[in-house]
Amino acid sequence: MEELKRRAALKALEYVEDGMVLGGGSGSTVAIFLKLLAEKVRKEDLDVTIIPTSYDVRILALNNGLKIASLDEYPTPDLAIDGADEVDPYKNLIKGGGAALLREKIVDYSARQLIIIVDETKIVEKLCSRFPIPLEVLPFAWKTVINRLSKIGTATVRYAKRGKVGPIITDNGNFIIDFNPSQNLTDNLAELNYKILSIPGVLETGIFLGTHVNKVIIGTREGVKILQ
Ligand code: A5P
Repeated sequence: MEELKRRAALKALEYVEDGMVLGGGSGSTVAIFLKLLAEKVRKEDLDVTIIPTSYDVRILALNNGLKIASLDEYPTPDLAIDGADEVDPYKNLIKGGGAALLREKIVDYSARQLIIIVDETKIVEKLCSRFPIPLEVLPFAWKTVINRLSKIGTATVRYAKRGKVGPIITDNGNFIIDFNPSQNLTDNLAELNYKILSIPGVLETGIFLGTHVNKVIIGTREGVKILQ
């Protein structure tokens, strides 16, 4: 699996140019990409700036000697590179397995180009095949949000498996609710996204629509495939 992720990450490296400001997504695939990028920047003496989408990526970038900045300075990154939990044939994504979806969506959607890097296990015919939709939710509203979602599917607050008791707290101080919608609702993802976002207290959804994604680079056993 690591090798497949590495293949996708290596391909993504080809799109990075000197002087670029890059949105840095979160997760294990982007972590591989950032380490490769740091090597490239050192070897070729490039000027590249990363806008991190989580504390995890912020620390990773700094530890690898990469320069970081914020959206305050660079509200329109040249390119964002991010991972995903599921990808359908239309480049629609589910993201948020690492609870970073809110900042990821802000950075990814602000970038001029968005490239997603995944291994082949992430490819599905239809979203929510294996993964629920993560939602970032204001803790004050968790119960009312769950009650509303329960009418159109099943929803649970995500708990930390270790390192902390109780719900996961995101980098923004919020809860994550994992939502499995009733099956027919995933036929229209834009409508579903809008429906979920209209619930007071939902701050963002982990549905990333394919219209915002320029390319998906897939690391497969046979080599690299690109969805565009
Ligand atoms: C982080 O919240 C997620 O959106 C990640 O991008 C996603 O979970 C992919 O992570 P991996 O690359 O570790 O599979």
